[in-house]
Amino acid sequence: MAINQITIRAANPSDFETLELINQTSSNTPYQSFALTNAIEKQSCFLAINSDNKIMGWIAIQKGFELIDILYITTANEFKRRGVSKSLFNYVRKEFKNSEIMLEVRKSNLKAIKLYESLHMVFLNTRKKYYQNPNEDALVYKYYI
Ligand SMILES: CC(C)(COP(=O)(O)OP(=O)(O)OC[C@H]1O[C@@H](n2cnc3c(N)ncnc32)[C@H](O)[C@@H]1OP(=O)(O)O)[C@@H](O)C(=O)NCCC(=O)NCCS
Repeated sequence: MAINQITIRAANPSDFETLELINQTSSNTPYQSFALTNAIEKQSCFLAINSDNKIMGWIAIQKGFELIDILYITTANEFKRRGVSKSLFNYVRKEFKNSEIMLEVRKSNLKAIKLYESLHMVFLNTRKKYYQNPNEDALVYKYYI
């Protein structure tokens, strides 16, 4: 069931431990910890909390000129499939409404691909051997305004 009340705010350095725990436990290809720290410091990481103030997921972005790059998005296992990532994406879309949005995703990450396609992102191209550990192609998706 979708969660009724989702609040989104910028992450602070004091949130790092919780965000890193979600990162390490929700995916077998987590985001690099130093890059998460970096996004928090740049005020480019946003998190979703429920009515009990529990952190359910987060999104890290990079702001460019009229372009937002989604660096990573993840939801804690206990809150998956309840609209958390969708809310985080929609928050970024509204906050940066004059920007297009791009991201790369591992070719094998079918859950994330389903998410992006459900958000009306469009497949652009493939970047060969983009990822390491394990080596894998990336699919590039774009959201047009
Ligand atoms: C992919 C991921 C971010 C989705 O987060 P989520 O909060 O569970 O997604 P949402 O509940 O907002 O899902 C929105 C839509 O995405 C699609 N979707 C999400 N998870 C899916 C799954 N496991 N299987 C099929 N479709 C899925 C569905 O269309 C879903 O809508 P629906 O539930 O009404 O059918 C989550 O599984 C995750 O954290 N994965 C590990 C980290 C990761 O791979 N991040 C992407 C890095 S590029």
